Amino acid sequence: MSNRTTFTTKLGVIAATVGSAVGLGNIWRFPYETGQNGGAAFLLVYLICVFFIGVPVMIAEFSIGRSAKANANKAYKILSPGTHWNIIGIMGIFASIFILGFYSVIAGWTLEYVFQALTNGLAGKSAAEFQESFTGFSSDTFRPLIWIFLFLALNYFIVSRGIKDGIEKASNILTPLLFVILIVFCIRSIFLPGASEGLKFLFHPDFSKIDSNVILRAMGQAFFSLSLGMGTLTTYASYFSDNTNLSKTAVTVGILDTTVAVLAGVLIFPAAFSFGIDPSQGPELVFITLPNIFQHLPGSLFWSVLFFILLSVAALTSTISLCEVGVAYLHEEFGITRKKATRILIAFCIVSSTLCSLSFGVLKDFKLFGLTIFNFCDFTASNILLPLGGMLIAIYVGWVLNKKIVFNEVSNRQSLKVGFFKLLIFCIQYIAPIAIALIFLSGLGVFNV
Ligand code: TRP
Repeated sequence: MSNRTTFTTKLGVIAATVGSAVGLGNIWRFPYETGQNGGAAFLLVYLICVFFIGVPVMIAEFSIGRSAKANANKAYKILSPGTHWNIIGIMGIFASIFILGFYSVIAGWTLEYVFQALTNGLAGKSAAEFQESFTGFSSDTFRPLIWIFLFLALNYFIVSRGIKDGIEKASNILTPLLFVILIVFCIRSIFLPGASEGLKFLFHPDFSKIDSNVILRAMGQAFFSLSLGMGTLTTYASYFSDNTNLSKTAVTVGILDTTVAVLAGVLIFPAAFSFGIDPSQGPELVFITLPNIFQHLPGSLFWSVLFFILLSVAALTSTISLCEVGVAYLHEEFGITRKKATRILIAFCIVSSTLCSLSFGVLKDFKLFGLTIFNFCDFTASNILLPLGGMLIAIYVGWVLNKKIVFNEVSNRQSLKVGFFKLLIFCIQYIAPIAIALIFLSGLGVFNV
């Protein structure tokens, strides 16, 4: 595909890929998953998952995408014609609609909070009042939907225009800015009275808490946070230039993504303990804890507006990458324009996100396998589809795809030194698929870790 767009600069590649990885998964999901699964013990398992499973699988995804230079479905057809490995790509497209469904709901909430902050609606409330107004808002039928649709419209606006310099440039500015703001909040948070309890919760591991469920969730979180296992990075890598260093990019993304997640933990747990908020409460954690912290900062209006804008932007750079999976597929496989492809994809997302949103209110008693629609989408995508996709990708790259192709990709056609190649292949062939399979089986209760 000779006329295929590529990212224009090295920084653009990192900004877009880190932009995909760093999102609500780091700032919203990581803290509450950590809170619900034993704090530091969870963090430790998480780190192991990121660097021994996540990064190798990311390099595998990059290799597939850049060597085939096609969407996540067609890439497998090009690399292994006449086989069914493209099922990985198809699974990814389904996963992206599930993820976009619940992700857009949270992104919509962040927009509401930007609005609240701007209109000073967050000022002067007690912790209990924050809780109350959040519950009132999220269980409302229409108000969250307005924000969700606005958020999806933003996605449409950007994605339909293609791989634009605009996204690259925006990420170049916004991602570093997010770091700065997070650090400022962290510092404020650790000086709150009683903060040390929160830091202890995050950094002092209690190994008795580690069980198969904690491991399953840590791996699911690692896959989710790194945007792995469903073709996002395969698709993005198809736009990488031939000079992009795949392994260096993957390690950089792994480190930056983990740093943001840990910073979010440092920001939220001390504050949660300080304000007497239960850190193991679910998705609402960020929306109730953070506005509390803002009130204790000079210029609280400025900080809260800025923070929720950045949260929305972090979400947006992630959802763009999620949309791109399906859009590249529809556009390339069915020969329709990008605009039309984006419209079709967004239509699916409107349905899935509306159902997810209503599951906080009128549909809250409607359960699938004992979970609300929102939790069902989250659980199925993060804990089943992504690890399963990751396992199949590892098996495919480790055992099916010609090693020469992988070597050429990782070494940029032998122009880079890749002394770690054997170790990498070992992780991809054995560690990743076996670890994922074991964690699955124990999750299904076949045995106990
Ligand atoms: N990684 C993003 C986050 O942490 C979410 C995301 C973007 C994602 N693309 C993905 C998750 C692909 C799984 C798969 O918020």
